[in-house]
Amino acid sequence: MAASLASHLHIGLRRPCPKLDAFNSQSFYSFDPNLRLSLSPPKPPRAVVAMAGTGKFFVGGNWKCNGTKDSIAKLVSDLNSAKLEPDVDVVVAPPFLYIDQVKNSLTERIEISAQNSWVGKGGAFTGEISVEQLKDLGSKWVILGHSERRHIIGENDEFIGKKAAYALSQGLGVIACIGELLEEREAGKTFDVCFQQLKAFADAVPSWDNIVIAYEPVWAIGTGKVATPQQAQEVHAAVRDWLKKNISAEVASKTRIIYGGSVNGGNSAELAKQEDIDGFLVGGASLKGPEFATIVNSVTSKKVAA
Ligand code: PGA
Repeated sequence: MAASLASHLHIGLRRPCPKLDAFNSQSFYSFDPNLRLSLSPPKPPRAVVAMAGTGKFFVGGNWKCNGTKDSIAKLVSDLNSAKLEPDVDVVVAPPFLYIDQVKNSLTERIEISAQNSWVGKGGAFTGEISVEQLKDLGSKWVILGHSERRHIIGENDEFIGKKAAYALSQGLGVIACIGELLEEREAGKTFDVCFQQLKAFADAVPSWDNIVIAYEPVWAIGTGKVATPQQAQEVHAAVRDWLKKNISAEVASKTRIIYGGSVNGGNSAELAKQEDIDGFLVGGASLKGPEFATIVNSVTSKKVAA
């Protein structure tokens, strides 16, 4: 019975092999595939009917290493004049150099995130930016564990976990990114990889109060190849169950799990309808103010989805 439910749950993601037994017995925290199907109590009726979590919809724009003073002034002006749905937390992450410019010109409706931070207190660390400096400029958030830092810069789980713990200790919120490479997905290791990365955060942080999890399959980032709503939902549900089993039911319910990877104004509404997708982390499409606003406002498709 468990095996048939499990194989049903993993259609489209795992190879048809008994991987589940393998990852249930692995040394890192386990995941019960039947949890949502058999053990979840009926959910009380809510205003936002298509949400498994209880957190507010969250949309972040990761501008990466893009922009000039002029192009950023234009983007800020477009964002300032955009009509944004009220029940969404909206955050943008400019390059460090432009945080001050953005903070001084952007509407307070939108919060600022950094794209990285140093692992501890500032000091003799050439080329690094400290959490204290980010706070001084008005950043409320920092993106950590982004795949470009994991796979291009070479940051590992332990280092990322330490960065998260330090940022949280100083009062920054953390957008904690996880996600598998294409070859890992093809080898049926998607859950293993995501849970390993989650565990590294879990081992390092004292609390999940100020963390948003971003599931970003690496093969979907900047490629135009978005995960299907079902592929994303499947991993988001597994992440929530992992939190429930390994942290607490409360953390599982409260923690926003957002999706990133080629989200745009044309696909965000369908993705937002999935009950475990609590928002988005947007790269390329966040460089266009009106399109980013469309993605923010895809929260409305969630409200009418169920
Ligand atoms: P993308 O980037 O939207 O350009 O795919 C997403 C991200 O890296 O956060």
